[in-house]
Amino acid sequence: MQELHTILKEALASLSAIESPALLEECKAKYLGKTGLLTEHLKALGKLSPEERPLRGAEINQVKVAIEEALRMQREKISQLELDRQLAAEALDVTLPGRGHGVGGLHPVTLTIRRIRDLFSAMGFEVAEGPEIETDYYNFTALNIPENHPARAMHDTFYLDANHVLRTHTSPMQVRYMEKRQPPYQVIVPGRVYRCDSDMTHTPMFHQVEGLWVSESVTFSSLKTTLIEFMRRFFEQEELKARFRPSFFPFTEPSAEMDVGCVMCHGEGCRVCSHTGWLEVLGCGMVHPNVLAPLGIDTERYVGFAFGLGVERLAMLRYGVNDLRVFFENDLKFLTQFN
Ligand code: PHE
Repeated sequence: MQELHTILKEALASLSAIESPALLEECKAKYLGKTGLLTEHLKALGKLSPEERPLRGAEINQVKVAIEEALRMQREKISQLELDRQLAAEALDVTLPGRGHGVGGLHPVTLTIRRIRDLFSAMGFEVAEGPEIETDYYNFTALNIPENHPARAMHDTFYLDANHVLRTHTSPMQVRYMEKRQPPYQVIVPGRVYRCDSDMTHTPMFHQVEGLWVSESVTFSSLKTTLIEFMRRFFEQEELKARFRPSFFPFTEPSAEMDVGCVMCHGEGCRVCSHTGWLEVLGCGMVHPNVLAPLGIDTERYVGFAFGLGVERLAMLRYGVNDLRVFFENDLKFLTQFN
């Protein structure tokens, strides 16, 4: 009896100090396990006389029940402790002020395309888009650039297979657009183009806006007035000077490159215009009859002009950005300036 009492006292004392489930199990085994202290006493019951046995058995059982109860309570206490610890660790102060919401903005290239589109729309141009993967036919052949023509080498083309390329310019859409419609045409085509080229002023992907105006009365002076007017509106400089230098494109004849007076130094000469006072902004020309005729367009009746301008180039000039690559690095410090 005395011994049982000691066992119970000890068990209760050590149990109440335990804080981990594993130690609790160990303690349980120590008293109630197969070779536990209490179990030893139960085994010893057999050696007692039949009169002594029930009394002794009841005593042992009482102690067992008491230890089991203590175990259960301690288990509850441990899980409560565990919960408290977790709640304290995950405490959330809902009264703290919020971090605020950043408002996103459009990419400067998107802003520039939209601006170009709006200005041309106001002049009566439709807007169309075409595929970035082109066939050799639309990117070159239909534009009067036959196979083995040296102009193909100028394009730094990404070939996908013998017959497919990433379009090197938006000009193939001239053909796709006219193929499906009857003249007159007055359309611009914004979109991505690709060339195997990369440095401060070239990225492998960039954006162009193609323009095409074909009618019975278009002339080279319509080309000039349209483009000069566009540039003046784009740069918001009413007196902006412009000049057209003879150039060559297989799909226009005659062809020209358009320069505008430097929008940074107004012609004085600066780093941006390499001290020439002029900035080259686009290629253009009168649509070559070799492009129109295969489409079934009467080239005695219809004449047109086309142009292709680089979007990033105009964006750089408008926003005063001197490295083309920053447009594609997705640096938020740069991008958020345009919000
Ligand atoms: N496609 C030409 C280029 O990418 C630009 C251009 C378009 C020239 C239309 C004339 C007419 O360089």
